[in-house]
Amino acid sequence: MMRVYDCILDELVAGYSKSGNPSAAAYKDWTRYSKISYTSDTHGGRFVNNYANATAKSEYSKFEDGGTMPVGSILAKDSFTVSSGGRVTPGPFFLMEKMSAGFDADGGDWRYTLMMPNGQIFGTTGGKGSAQVGFCKDCHIAVGDDQDFQFFLPEELRASN
Ligand code: HEC
Repeated sequence: MMRVYDCILDELVAGYSKSGNPSAAAYKDWTRYSKISYTSDTHGGRFVNNYANATAKSEYSKFEDGGTMPVGSILAKDSFTVSSGGRVTPGPFFLMEKMSAGFDADGGDWRYTLMMPNGQIFGTTGGKGSAQVGFCKDCHIAVGDDQDFQFFLPEELRASN
């Protein structure tokens, strides 16, 4: 069966890729951790999917049992909405990138990026629009450093990798 997500994935990638951020073109070939697209109230109530790059895989695959993520780990969440009439619309792209020690020590050295569906950068920690993505860290630090500021995803939605 063709899922809505299969129909919109190429459109998401094309839009995000206009940013020139290498993760935008690459993420669809990373390991996907969500079995299905699920609604994330904390990311605008949109349907989302979770991906992690090869560097992140060994730890992210263990979810809560994983250790501190290696430098170079990238976690990506794409998003879309479906209207009551069935219209599917691309949503923003959410990224967490593990930077080297000292980048943002109290935030676990994560760089948060929020990108609009057309590839425009809304904000990135320590760069353009940094203040506008402060709310990402504010929420993610609430989960604590024992799981390296990651929330993972509801257990029943986890794909086994
Ligand atoms: C109010 C809390 C909250 C805010 C604000 C928030 N997140 Fe999240 N984030 C979560 C939760 C909860 C999850 C896991 C479940 C889900 O997606 O609903 C998550 C998961 C993620 C993931 C997958 C990695 C992981 O933690 O397992 C990424 C990437 C991510 N968020 C990026 C962002 C970015 C970028 C922003 C800001 C633009 C942001 N988040 C803002 C709560 C939040």
